[in-house]
Amino acid sequence: MVHSDDLLQQSTHFAFGKNWASYAELVTPAKIAEAVAGLKRLVGDEVAGQRWLDVGCGSGLHSLAALQLGATEVVATDLDPDSVATTRALLTKLAPSAIWRAHECSVFDLAQAGFGQFGLVYSWGVLHHTGDLSGALRAAAAAVAPGGLLVVALYRKTPLCWLWKLEKRFYAHAAPRTQRLLRASYIALYKLASRVIGRNFQQHVAEYQSNRGMDFAHDVHDWMGGWPYESITPAQTAQAMSALGFTPVRSFLDTRGRLGLLGSGCDEYVYRKA
Ligand SMILES: C[S@@+](CC[C@H](N)C(=O)[O-])C[C@H]1O[C@@H](n2cnc3c(N)ncnc32)[C@H](O)[C@@H]1O
Repeated sequence: MVHSDDLLQQSTHFAFGKNWASYAELVTPAKIAEAVAGLKRLVGDEVAGQRWLDVGCGSGLHSLAALQLGATEVVATDLDPDSVATTRALLTKLAPSAIWRAHECSVFDLAQAGFGQFGLVYSWGVLHHTGDLSGALRAAAAAVAPGGLLVVALYRKTPLCWLWKLEKRFYAHAAPRTQRLLRASYIALYKLASRVIGRNFQQHVAEYQSNRGMDFAHDVHDWMGGWPYESITPAQTAQAMSALGFTPVRSFLDTRGRLGLLGSGCDEYVYRKA
């Protein structure tokens, strides 16, 4: 079935929150430590003492990491009620005495939500799933206080993005059995590609948590179903951020120039508001 409804509405989206709820059961101290390390690598020492807004908080793991790195207050938001409930449960359990709140709120409604502005706005792997990437970038940027940081990860545009767009639109609303079949095909392709480049697939999966505390199986489901889907080049990102009055601080770009056969990686950017 083709869903061509309003892509800004959660009802048209992939069930991200259900995947995060299932993933959250796997969160261990080791995964939390990886998430903290990943955040430090990206943001450096600038988390401590800041109000932190997590736009599209998913499991809540990175909001937890921000609290562990000394954020004074965390506001975790997501469009999907299951993501918000999972974040609330995770933070209640693991950061009971810290100052945080979790709200169901679209990035497009932040201005009306009355949260104020933040020294750090973090939105990893989210804005390209909102149905309006450039509008979402503008809305997230507006929540940054003057001199504050915007930290985003955005899918890199690849030659095969059009194909993945079709696949995701189909997968997001397919029956669980069909989704399982598609995931099995993707993993078979992944294994084949691993063999071609001489990577040990089993070891790669076992060590996958080193990637921000994530989990291979849940990331495959998220990648296959992540609808709505857009992607952007680093040059387009630079242009958009400059127009919004931000200057680049650092970035981690996927410079391998991939075709995008197994998907498009996320480019990570840190920008400062003038
Ligand atoms: C791929 S997940 C990323 C989760 C988390 N940031 C992380 O790095 O693990 C994308 C998240 O964005 C959320 N999302 C999608 N559209 C949104 C919107 N308009 N406003 C806020 N969150 C949104 C989804 O519900 C989902 O939880």
